[in-house]
Amino acid sequence: MARVTGRPGDIDSAAIDRAAEVLRGGGLVAFPTETVYGLGANAADGAAVTRVFQAKGRPPSHPLIVHLADAEQLDGWAEGLPAAARLLAERFWPGPLTLVLRRGRRVPLETTGGLETVAVRVPAHPVALALLSAFGGGIAAPSANRFGSVSPTTAGHVRAELGDAVDVVLDGGPCQVGVESTIVDATGEALSILRPGGVTREDLEAALGRPLEVPATSTVRVPGQHPSHYAPRARVVLVEPEQVIAEAERAQESGHQVGVLLPPAFADAEVKAHAVVAVPASMPAYARELYALLRELDQRGCDLIVASLPPEQGLGLAIANRLRRAAGPRPAA
Ligand code: TXA
Ligand code: MG
Repeated sequence: MARVTGRPGDIDSAAIDRAAEVLRGGGLVAFPTETVYGLGANAADGAAVTRVFQAKGRPPSHPLIVHLADAEQLDGWAEGLPAAARLLAERFWPGPLTLVLRRGRRVPLETTGGLETVAVRVPAHPVALALLSAFGGGIAAPSANRFGSVSPTTAGHVRAELGDAVDVVLDGGPCQVGVESTIVDATGEALSILRPGGVTREDLEAALGRPLEVPATSTVRVPGQHPSHYAPRARVVLVEPEQVIAEAERAQESGHQVGVLLPPAFADAEVKAHAVVAVPASMPAYARELYALLRELDQRGCDLIVASLPPEQGLGLAIANRLRRAAGPRPAA
């Protein structure tokens, strides 16, 4: 497996060219985006996309996001761009926004999991953009983790989880947003948010000048909508912020190895638990660190994580969504 470093402002163009060549040959390239690392394949090559599903252990009915270098590339990947979707693309691309549109002729059904719609986004990361322009096509990429587990925000996370299943890992340093893109369905009459993410609901509504729907359940297939997703190995228990310490100490006393995501208001408290991390008070910092903190508590041997939800505004909406799903019911082992 090739290892390539490409810090922002320090792009190794030979490495990018090699990675683009791997994509052309039907191989898999893990690459950094501003949200999380993606596991990329040529979006127009059904066989290459099938390898992504195998590497992730993801059911083939779950659609992938097609990444493009810019909105001008949409031709052939998506059919038509409704006015409201165009406005959002102009305002938020490159950036952590994914638009669900009608499938274009270049997209094989493997990429969309059999759907007649396609998810597209233009990522805001210099390494991702360099790879996209060297490759010259669309790159289908889910997050570069095993299906159901926590998304990777460093190249090290990708290597630890996917190892030799990936042909190349491009290292662009830690992801700056830290939670996945916001997915907006633009195929119906009214736009709706299918998954909260790096672009806030408030920013989308300000750009559109009207409120957006956030359906509690979606009729579209979105794996991120399954109850247990974005989950660490340890079981996650959510309680009110002022109950976190008592709940953690109770569980520790009853024999668990308890990890604690300590709310900012209690950052200085002494907690009798196995591993305690204080969560950042600012939502952008919390979003950036959330997945690394969950991985850290797993690594320190916790079997139970006690946490609370942040206020569900701004990036807090995406953080709360991921914590709820991490705490959701697990499939029987
Ligand atoms: O930030 C991100 O979005 C990252 C980076 C790598 O770009 N990617 C990511 O991909 O989170 P993934 O596969 O882990 O999540 C993509 C989500 C899934 O929940 C999938 O169901 C949804 O996008 N999706 C893809 N195509 C769709 C479609 N046609 N209709 C509805 N949802 C779709
Ligand atoms: Mg994912």
